[in-house]
Amino acid sequence: MNAAATTVRTGSLEPLPIDEIGDAPANYGGRPGSSTELDVVHGVVLYVDNVSVSFDGFKALNGLSLEVNNGELRCIIGPNGAGKTTMMDVITGKTRPDSGRVFFGSTVDLLRMREAEIAQIGIGRKFQKPTVFEHLNVFENLELALSTDRRVRRTLFSRLDSASFDRIAATLDLIHLRKLAGKLAGNLSHGQKQWLEIGMLLMQEPKLLLLDEPVAGMTDEETERTAELFLSLEGKHSLVVVEHDMKFIEELTTRGEHAATKKVTVLHEGSVLAEGRLADVQANEKVVEVYLGR
Ligand SMILES: Nc1ncnc2c1ncn2[C@@H]1O[C@H](COP(=O)(O)OP(=O)(O)OP(=O)(O)O)[C@@H](O)[C@H]1O
Ligand SMILES: [Mg+2]
Repeated sequence: MNAAATTVRTGSLEPLPIDEIGDAPANYGGRPGSSTELDVVHGVVLYVDNVSVSFDGFKALNGLSLEVNNGELRCIIGPNGAGKTTMMDVITGKTRPDSGRVFFGSTVDLLRMREAEIAQIGIGRKFQKPTVFEHLNVFENLELALSTDRRVRRTLFSRLDSASFDRIAATLDLIHLRKLAGKLAGNLSHGQKQWLEIGMLLMQEPKLLLLDEPVAGMTDEETERTAELFLSLEGKHSLVVVEHDMKFIEELTTRGEHAATKKVTVLHEGSVLAEGRLADVQANEKVVEVYLGR
């Protein structure tokens, strides 16, 4: 419980809500309450604190702690089985941890929410395999994504208002698919499908985007374009990118407005092995031994 919360409650005769009694704090240093509204007053969009997950006794996550700042583009690297995907499963509510805390901003306790709710409050996730609607064209895929936005009350293929049309057009430009707007998604290249799926996520204006191996299977040119796309999203959204492609990680961390301060996190055996600027992480002996020196 933080100082502000204590002060507010001192003069109150009302009993504490049941979910605020006990050891677990009702927030992570922000304003009190159990809202689903993102509060980034402390500059942090994601807090993962001492999270452990075991599968049949095997610890996939072992006291994992990390923080991502609002608007940050954070790259996460690490060997196969390090727990990178499991971490995303925990953040998105797909896997429940045995212990630890996960907060979106300083007030939203993600471990109390279901997967569908977490998606609704502004956390978008991209899995490795593209999942677009193959029998719809590019424009229609984006339109469909827009219609799942709870703020847009309309049914699919009813007349689009001009604001919605503009949003789709802007996204088409961002993902470089404007010229292919009428093409069936099933006929796009692998890379184009990945961009379309990212575009569909962007239609929902997520605060935080989790991207698991987004350039796997892409050509060099597609990879390069994806780096440019992510760099253009930095600041407007917060991004957590997991990748094994070190050239791509280098592009993301050594370019863009915040290149001088950008951090990379290395996961190993379910916890953070190293964190810092890419050059420092690459020079870290432990990191070279478990991952980069392979
Ligand atoms: N549902 C599950 N049941 C049992 N074990 C699991 C499950 N999910 C993950 N694991 C195990 O947890 C460990 C971490 O897996 P995870 O997929 O998070 O690794 P990763 O860092 O994403 O690896 P990669 O780089 O290969 O994608 C692995 O040993 C994996 O086999
Ligand atoms: Mg993985």
